[in-house]
Amino acid sequence: MAIRLGDDAPNFTAPTTEGELNFYDWKGDSWAVLFSHPKDFTPVCTTELGAVAKLKDEFDRRGVKVIGLSVSPLGDHEGWSKDIEETQGAALNFPLIADPDRKVSDLYDMIHPNADDTATVRSVFVIGPDNKIKLTLTYPAATGRNFDELLRVVDSLQLTATQGLATPVNWTKGDRVIVTPAVSDDEARERFGDFEAQRPYLRYVDDPTA
Ligand code: BEZ
Repeated sequence: MAIRLGDDAPNFTAPTTEGELNFYDWKGDSWAVLFSHPKDFTPVCTTELGAVAKLKDEFDRRGVKVIGLSVSPLGDHEGWSKDIEETQGAALNFPLIADPDRKVSDLYDMIHPNADDTATVRSVFVIGPDNKIKLTLTYPAATGRNFDELLRVVDSLQLTATQGLATPVNWTKGDRVIVTPAVSDDEARERFGDFEAQRPYLRYVDDPTA
């Protein structure tokens, strides 16, 4: 069944390049990004995994654990890791799930048979400290994702989680943010100080976390 925002992230135990792990135990109360790539020894996936390895410090800084998945077996992951390091200039520094029996892929609905009935699509799940799904993305196999955008949405999700604020179009950290309609003018003033109301429902404040 499809996984929707607000659902509990399904737990699982699976072999990875860092040993067998139980997802909930590994994740603890951190944020997590679980992302699939179609299979090993493929060009777009090679570039994506190198990019995520290079961004690991940025995910760490935000308290986000990253974990990848493909339906290829663990032996392939190990061989392919060397190619990633040699071609992308960054070694894998996060676990990569081996899911040849598609246990986790099926649990997260990562195989879309009308696109490909054996390999996963490029799914992304951002999961909160409460183990609930906060964001999903689905890309086709031939389109590499933008992991800088993923960091941007994590910043937005964390701002919403900690401050109850929303972020406007193309927002990046440091830009002004939006007071949600559920917050009255008096409460907004008390919590965030002065705000600019362009309309009664469109109120901007400085990002209190910037
Ligand atoms: C890739 O990762 O390069 C890829 C995988 C499956 C289909 C097309 C591209």
